[in-house]
Amino acid sequence: MIDVFAPIAAAADLTVPAEHRLPVAVVGAGAIVDVAHLPAYRRAGLEVTGLYDLDPARAAEVAARHGVPRTYASLAELLADDRVAVVDIAVSPGAQPGIARQALEAGRHVLCQKPFAPDVATGEELVALAEAGGLKIAVNQQLRFDEGIAAARAMVRAGWIGEPTAMTFSVNILTDWSAWDWLLTTDRLEIVYHSIHYLDAIRSVLGDPELVFCTGSRTPGQLAKGETRTMSTLVYPGDVRALVHVTHENRTGDQEAAFRVDGTLGAVKGTLGLLYDYPHGRPDTLEVNSRVLPTDGWLPYPVTTRWLPDAVAGPMGSLLRAVAEGGEPETSGRDNLGTLRLLEALYASMDSGESRRL
Ligand SMILES: NC(=O)c1ccc[n+]([C@@H]2O[C@H](COP(=O)([O-])OP(=O)(O)OC[C@H]3O[C@@H](n4cnc5c(N)ncnc54)[C@H](O)[C@@H]3O)[C@@H](O)[C@H]2O)c1
Repeated sequence: MIDVFAPIAAAADLTVPAEHRLPVAVVGAGAIVDVAHLPAYRRAGLEVTGLYDLDPARAAEVAARHGVPRTYASLAELLADDRVAVVDIAVSPGAQPGIARQALEAGRHVLCQKPFAPDVATGEELVALAEAGGLKIAVNQQLRFDEGIAAARAMVRAGWIGEPTAMTFSVNILTDWSAWDWLLTTDRLEIVYHSIHYLDAIRSVLGDPELVFCTGSRTPGQLAKGETRTMSTLVYPGDVRALVHVTHENRTGDQEAAFRVDGTLGAVKGTLGLLYDYPHGRPDTLEVNSRVLPTDGWLPYPVTTRWLPDAVAGPMGSLLRAVAEGGEPETSGRDNLGTLRLLEALYASMDSGESRRL
């Protein structure tokens, strides 16, 4: 590793210190728990006490494959297990708020999936419930912790590209939604279940925009009911802008998933390796071009980990740090209210055909 990258790699490090580790129980044993949560927690050295799923056979099969010692017959049984400090919820989104409420009422810290809540009001209620109980609640918006994005953000924070002026995501892929019946039938699809990652990552670099415009569309012959192609424009004070352009109906096989942050003195750009062969993919690429360092043209940064499963350790590690040391997790429920507000503004814009002020 080139020496200059050492602080960048440190900022993107996903190690969970041993003194922060607490036992975690997982609600839901679906696809994301199988391919990402359990492998990431094992690599991070976290203890998973057990799994609970409405489908007990699925829970038993996933638990056995990942060496999780037990399953729970009900949520009540899980919450009666005194060893459980953190409840990690990964179920279909409609069921999440009810489970989060019960876990908080039982005195457990909670990690939710994105989308955190179906609307801002429900998110605010969960945040208030956690704060009233002295508990931490966070959201698994793990793209912020994906090595390419985390390293890019660290380079921006280090001043390597001067003042940031724009951040873009450009994603053109073919997504098979058929593994999730609830995604095939939902009215709102792309922004709330996919671009939410890019929007949250942009918030982690540029903060909250003041004005947005969004248009969403469908492709003839697509399986899903909701929008599968979106363009979202985010306007910040002064000259800072962001753009998220995503299509899930690529019919030509040339998958592309690129991101870039431009600044007054350089830029960082890369690719999201996960989306080149979901869910295994490949590590991201990342390059920096800086008049501050300076670099001689584009200098590659060596990404060695993946969005899935590796980055999933990030939100959990940040939650555990907040439990151990106090303060807010990086993707806390309170922070995520900003992502939910952004989503609501984008859909309001999509529905009305007009820009929306936040
Ligand atoms: N990168 C990411 O952040 C990412 C990726 C994929 C999915 N997700 C999110 O993770 C969640 C789960 O996605 P998935 O792909 O695993 O879905 P899935 O449909 O494969 O699995 C969901 C599981 O939850 C179980 N379940 C549903 N309601 C339940 C309840 N009330 N109690 C216990 N179990 C219940 C189901 O039986 C099923 O096994 C969703 O919110 C989704 O948006 C996030």
